[in-house]
Amino acid sequence: MSHLNDAPIGVFDSGIGGLTVLKALWEKFPTESFVYLADTARIPYGTKSPEAVTQYAQQICGQLIRHHRIKALIVACNTASAHALPTLQQEFSTIPVLGVIMPSAMAAVSATQNQHIAVIATEGTVRSRAYEHAIAALNKNVRVTTQACSLLVSLVEEGWLEGEITDRIIERYLHSLFKENNTPDTLILGCTHFPLLKPRIEYYLGKSVFVIDSASNVANETLHVLQQRELLSTQTRKSTQFLVTDSPERFIATANIFLGETLAENTVQHISV
Ligand code: DGL
Repeated sequence: MSHLNDAPIGVFDSGIGGLTVLKALWEKFPTESFVYLADTARIPYGTKSPEAVTQYAQQICGQLIRHHRIKALIVACNTASAHALPTLQQEFSTIPVLGVIMPSAMAAVSATQNQHIAVIATEGTVRSRAYEHAIAALNKNVRVTTQACSLLVSLVEEGWLEGEITDRIIERYLHSLFKENNTPDTLILGCTHFPLLKPRIEYYLGKSVFVIDSASNVANETLHVLQQRELLSTQTRKSTQFLVTDSPERFIATANIFLGETLAENTVQHISV
Protein backbone atom coordinates (compact mmCIF):
# COMPACT_ATOMS: atom_id res chain seq x y z
CA MET A 1 0.00 0.00 0.00
CA SER A 2 1.24 3.52 -0.76
CA HIS A 3 0.45 6.92 0.76
CA LEU A 4 -1.37 7.72 -2.49
CA ASN A 5 -4.16 5.13 -2.18
CA ASP A 6 -6.74 7.66 -1.07
CA ALA A 7 -5.59 10.39 -3.45
CA PRO A 8 -7.98 11.18 -6.33
CA ILE A 9 -7.67 9.98 -9.92
CA GLY A 10 -7.23 12.87 -12.38
CA VAL A 11 -9.34 12.80 -15.56
CA PHE A 12 -8.39 15.28 -18.27
CA ASP A 13 -10.37 16.32 -21.32
CA SER A 14 -10.54 19.26 -23.69
CA GLY A 15 -14.04 19.89 -22.36
CA ILE A 16 -17.25 18.20 -21.52
CA GLY A 17 -17.01 15.01 -23.61
CA GLY A 18 -14.65 13.27 -21.19
CA LEU A 19 -17.60 13.00 -18.83
CA THR A 20 -18.50 9.83 -20.76
CA VAL A 21 -15.20 8.43 -19.50
CA LEU A 22 -15.78 9.79 -15.99
CA LYS A 23 -19.18 8.08 -15.92
CA ALA A 24 -17.61 4.74 -16.83
CA LEU A 25 -14.97 5.30 -14.13
CA TRP A 26 -17.67 6.11 -11.54
CA GLU A 27 -19.39 2.82 -12.37
CA LYS A 28 -16.18 0.84 -12.16
CA PHE A 29 -14.85 2.56 -9.01
CA PRO A 30 -17.65 3.37 -6.54
CA THR A 31 -15.16 4.27 -3.81
CA GLU A 32 -12.54 6.30 -5.69
CA SER A 33 -12.40 10.11 -5.75
CA PHE A 34 -11.81 12.05 -8.94
CA VAL A 35 -10.67 15.45 -10.12
CA TYR A 36 -12.05 16.14 -13.60
CA LEU A 37 -10.21 18.85 -15.51
CA ALA A 38 -11.84 20.39 -18.60
CA ASP A 39 -9.92 22.84 -20.77
CA THR A 40 -13.18 24.53 -21.79
CA ALA A 41 -11.46 27.81 -22.68
CA ARG A 42 -9.48 26.13 -25.47
CA ILE A 43 -11.88 23.48 -26.74
CA PRO A 44 -12.03 22.12 -29.45
CA TYR A 45 -8.73 20.28 -29.54
CA GLY A 46 -9.91 18.23 -32.52
CA THR A 47 -9.14 20.94 -35.08
CA LYS A 48 -5.87 22.21 -33.53
CA SER A 49 -2.32 21.29 -34.49
CA PRO A 50 -0.45 18.51 -32.64
CA GLU A 51 1.94 21.14 -31.25
CA ALA A 52 -0.84 23.29 -29.79
CA VAL A 53 -2.67 20.31 -28.27
CA THR A 54 0.53 18.97 -26.74
CA GLN A 55 1.42 22.35 -25.27
CA TYR A 56 -2.08 22.83 -23.79
CA ALA A 57 -2.12 19.32 -22.36
CA GLN A 58 1.34 19.65 -20.81
CA GLN A 59 0.52 22.99 -19.26
CA ILE A 60 -2.84 22.12 -17.82
CA CYS A 61 -1.99 18.60 -16.64
CA GLY A 62 1.08 20.14 -14.98
CA GLN A 63 -1.26 22.39 -12.98
CA LEU A 64 -3.43 19.41 -12.05
CA ILE A 65 -0.45 17.44 -10.81
CA ARG A 66 1.13 20.36 -8.93
CA HIS A 67 -2.03 21.52 -7.14
CA HIS A 68 -3.99 18.29 -6.68
CA ARG A 69 -2.25 15.22 -5.38
CA ILE A 70 -3.55 12.77 -8.00
CA LYS A 71 -2.45 9.12 -8.04
CA ALA A 72 -3.11 8.52 -11.75
CA LEU A 73 -3.98 10.59 -14.80
CA ILE A 74 -6.51 9.44 -17.37
CA VAL A 75 -6.34 11.35 -20.65
CA ALA A 76 -10.00 10.97 -21.65
CA CYS A 77 -9.67 13.10 -24.77
CA ASN A 78 -8.88 11.07 -27.88
CA THR A 79 -7.22 14.00 -29.63
CA ALA A 80 -4.97 14.72 -26.63
CA SER A 81 -4.20 11.00 -26.32
CA ALA A 82 -3.37 10.89 -30.04
CA HIS A 83 -1.01 13.87 -29.98
CA ALA A 84 0.35 14.19 -26.47
CA LEU A 85 0.28 10.89 -24.56
CA PRO A 86 4.00 9.97 -24.86
CA THR A 87 4.99 13.54 -23.86
CA LEU A 88 2.68 13.46 -20.81
CA GLN A 89 3.89 9.99 -19.79
CA GLN A 90 7.48 11.17 -19.99
CA GLU A 91 6.89 14.45 -18.17
CA PHE A 92 4.71 13.02 -15.37
CA SER A 93 6.51 9.74 -14.97
CA THR A 94 5.90 9.45 -11.20
CA ILE A 95 2.26 8.44 -11.74
CA PRO A 96 0.54 6.20 -14.29
CA VAL A 97 -0.72 8.24 -17.27
CA LEU A 98 -3.26 6.37 -19.40
CA GLY A 99 -4.77 7.32 -22.72
CA VAL A 100 -7.90 6.08 -24.46
CA ILE A 101 -6.47 4.88 -27.76
CA MET A 102 -4.67 1.65 -26.87
CA PRO A 103 -7.51 0.23 -24.70
CA SER A 104 -9.99 0.71 -27.58
CA ALA A 105 -7.52 -0.64 -30.13
CA MET A 106 -7.07 -3.78 -28.00
CA ALA A 107 -10.82 -4.30 -27.67
CA ALA A 108 -11.28 -3.81 -31.42
CA VAL A 109 -8.49 -6.19 -32.40
CA SER A 110 -10.01 -8.88 -30.18
CA ALA A 111 -13.49 -8.25 -31.60
CA THR A 112 -12.83 -8.17 -35.34
CA GLN A 113 -13.44 -11.39 -37.24
CA ASN A 114 -12.72 -10.09 -40.74
CA GLN A 115 -9.61 -8.12 -39.71
CA HIS A 116 -11.07 -4.81 -40.76
CA ILE A 117 -11.73 -2.02 -38.24
CA ALA A 118 -13.24 1.41 -38.83
CA VAL A 119 -12.50 4.42 -36.63
CA ILE A 120 -14.51 7.63 -36.40
CA ALA A 121 -12.84 10.52 -34.60
CA THR A 122 -11.97 14.20 -34.78
CA GLU A 123 -9.93 15.60 -37.65
CA GLY A 124 -6.83 15.77 -35.43
CA THR A 125 -7.08 12.17 -34.24
CA VAL A 126 -7.59 10.94 -37.81
CA ARG A 127 -4.62 12.96 -39.08
CA SER A 128 -2.38 11.66 -36.29
CA ARG A 129 -2.92 8.04 -37.44
CA ALA A 130 -2.73 7.10 -33.76
CA TYR A 131 -5.35 4.34 -34.11
CA GLU A 132 -3.59 2.87 -37.15
CA HIS A 133 -0.31 2.77 -35.20
CA ALA A 134 -1.89 1.27 -32.06
CA ILE A 135 -3.71 -1.41 -34.08
CA ALA A 136 -0.63 -2.22 -36.18
CA ALA A 137 1.39 -2.67 -32.98
CA LEU A 138 -1.14 -5.33 -31.92
CA ASN A 139 -1.75 -7.03 -35.26
CA LYS A 140 -0.15 -5.95 -38.53
CA ASN A 141 -2.72 -7.84 -40.60
CA VAL A 142 -5.67 -5.74 -39.51
CA ARG A 143 -6.87 -3.16 -42.01
CA VAL A 144 -7.98 0.20 -40.56
CA THR A 145 -10.29 2.72 -42.25
CA THR A 146 -10.81 6.11 -40.61
CA GLN A 147 -13.29 8.95 -41.00
CA ALA A 148 -13.26 12.39 -39.37
CA CYS A 149 -16.76 13.26 -38.09
CA SER A 150 -16.47 16.80 -36.70
CA LEU A 151 -20.19 17.56 -36.93
CA LEU A 152 -21.02 14.73 -34.53
CA VAL A 153 -19.19 16.65 -31.77
CA SER A 154 -21.44 19.68 -32.30
CA LEU A 155 -24.58 17.53 -32.39
CA VAL A 156 -23.79 16.06 -29.00
CA GLU A 157 -22.88 19.46 -27.51
CA GLU A 158 -26.30 20.67 -28.67
CA GLY A 159 -27.96 17.66 -27.05
CA TRP A 160 -29.24 16.39 -30.43
CA LEU A 161 -28.78 12.74 -29.59
CA GLU A 162 -31.62 11.51 -31.80
CA GLY A 163 -34.02 12.71 -34.48
CA GLU A 164 -34.02 12.96 -38.26
CA ILE A 165 -31.13 15.40 -38.62
CA THR A 166 -28.91 13.36 -36.32
CA ASP A 167 -29.72 10.14 -38.20
CA ARG A 168 -28.99 11.77 -41.55
CA ILE A 169 -25.64 13.14 -40.44
CA ILE A 170 -24.67 9.74 -39.02
CA GLU A 171 -25.69 8.13 -42.31
CA ARG A 172 -23.73 10.69 -44.32
CA TYR A 173 -20.53 9.98 -42.39
CA LEU A 174 -20.88 6.21 -42.11
CA HIS A 175 -22.19 5.48 -45.58
CA SER A 176 -18.78 5.67 -47.23
CA LEU A 177 -17.17 3.46 -44.56
CA PHE A 178 -19.77 0.73 -44.77
CA LYS A 179 -20.95 0.75 -48.36
CA GLU A 180 -19.18 -2.15 -50.11
CA ASN A 181 -18.44 -5.81 -49.58
CA ASN A 182 -15.59 -6.47 -47.22
CA THR A 183 -16.59 -3.56 -45.01
CA PRO A 184 -15.33 -3.31 -41.41
CA ASP A 185 -17.09 -5.54 -38.87
CA THR A 186 -15.91 -3.38 -35.94
CA LEU A 187 -16.22 0.36 -35.38
CA ILE A 188 -14.25 2.33 -32.78
CA LEU A 189 -15.94 5.47 -31.47
CA GLY A 190 -12.66 7.39 -31.27
CA CYS A 191 -13.98 10.58 -29.69
CA THR A 192 -15.27 11.37 -26.21
CA HIS A 193 -18.63 12.59 -27.53
CA PHE A 194 -19.60 9.65 -29.70
CA PRO A 195 -20.75 7.17 -26.99
CA LEU A 196 -23.81 9.38 -26.61
CA LEU A 197 -24.71 8.66 -30.22
CA LYS A 198 -24.03 4.92 -29.88
CA PRO A 199 -27.72 3.90 -29.96
CA ARG A 200 -28.30 5.75 -33.23
CA ILE A 201 -25.01 4.57 -34.74
CA GLU A 202 -25.86 0.97 -33.83
CA TYR A 203 -29.33 1.44 -35.28
CA TYR A 204 -27.83 2.61 -38.58
CA LEU A 205 -25.24 -0.17 -38.73
CA GLY A 206 -27.42 -3.06 -37.58
CA LYS A 207 -26.21 -6.04 -35.64
CA SER A 208 -23.38 -7.11 -37.94
CA VAL A 209 -20.99 -4.36 -36.74
CA PHE A 210 -19.48 -4.41 -33.27
CA VAL A 211 -19.27 -0.88 -31.83
CA ILE A 212 -16.53 -0.07 -29.32
CA ASP A 213 -16.26 3.02 -27.14
CA SER A 214 -13.24 4.22 -25.21
CA ALA A 215 -15.07 4.83 -21.95
CA SER A 216 -15.57 1.28 -20.69
CA ASN A 217 -12.25 0.08 -22.09
CA VAL A 218 -10.16 2.74 -20.39
CA ALA A 219 -12.03 2.07 -17.12
CA ASN A 220 -11.01 -1.61 -17.35
CA GLU A 221 -7.42 -0.63 -18.09
CA THR A 222 -7.42 1.79 -15.12
CA LEU A 223 -8.55 -1.01 -12.81
CA HIS A 224 -5.77 -3.23 -14.10
CA VAL A 225 -3.10 -0.56 -13.57
CA LEU A 226 -4.29 0.50 -10.09
CA GLN A 227 -4.42 -3.13 -8.97
CA GLN A 228 -0.99 -3.82 -10.36
CA ARG A 229 0.50 -0.81 -8.56
CA GLU A 230 -1.52 -1.45 -5.38
CA LEU A 231 -3.09 1.98 -5.68
CA LEU A 232 -6.76 1.14 -5.14
CA SER A 233 -8.56 3.28 -2.59
CA THR A 234 -9.31 2.25 0.98
CA GLN A 235 -12.20 4.75 1.24
CA THR A 236 -15.85 3.81 1.38
CA ARG A 237 -17.23 6.78 -0.56
CA LYS A 238 -16.32 8.70 -3.65
CA SER A 239 -16.23 12.43 -4.37
CA THR A 240 -15.58 14.36 -7.58
CA GLN A 241 -14.28 17.85 -8.05
CA PHE A 242 -14.54 19.59 -11.43
CA LEU A 243 -12.02 22.18 -12.67
CA VAL A 244 -12.79 24.24 -15.78
CA THR A 245 -10.76 26.85 -17.63
CA ASP A 246 -13.81 28.81 -18.85
CA SER A 247 -16.92 29.81 -16.95
CA PRO A 248 -18.54 27.02 -14.90
CA GLU A 249 -22.10 27.95 -16.01
CA ARG A 250 -21.96 26.49 -19.51
CA PHE A 251 -20.11 23.42 -18.23
CA ILE A 252 -22.80 22.78 -15.63
CA ALA A 253 -25.57 23.27 -18.20
CA THR A 254 -24.05 20.84 -20.73
CA ALA A 255 -22.82 18.29 -18.18
CA ASN A 256 -26.39 17.17 -17.73
CA ILE A 257 -26.42 15.70 -21.27
CA PHE A 258 -23.38 13.58 -20.52
CA LEU A 259 -24.04 12.56 -16.93
CA GLY A 260 -27.80 12.53 -16.79
CA GLU A 261 -27.62 14.51 -13.57
CA THR A 262 -27.15 18.15 -12.61
CA LEU A 263 -23.83 19.06 -11.01
CA ALA A 264 -23.89 21.05 -7.79
CA GLU A 265 -22.40 24.51 -8.39
CA ASN A 266 -19.96 24.18 -5.52
CA THR A 267 -18.29 21.14 -7.14
CA VAL A 268 -17.22 23.15 -10.23
CA GLN A 269 -14.32 25.56 -9.90
CA HIS A 270 -12.76 27.90 -12.45
CA ILE A 271 -8.97 27.78 -12.88
CA SER A 272 -6.85 30.09 -15.03
CA VAL A 273 -4.56 28.96 -17.81
N1 DGL B 1 -12.41 15.46 -26.58
C1 DGL B 1 -12.21 15.47 -28.01
C2 DGL B 1 -11.81 14.06 -28.47
O1 DGL B 1 -12.14 13.07 -27.86
C3 DGL B 1 -13.44 15.98 -28.76
C4 DGL B 1 -13.71 17.46 -28.55
C5 DGL B 1 -12.58 18.37 -29.04
O2 DGL B 1 -12.36 18.46 -30.27
O3 DGL B 1 -11.89 18.94 -28.20
O4 DGL B 1 -11.15 13.94 -29.47
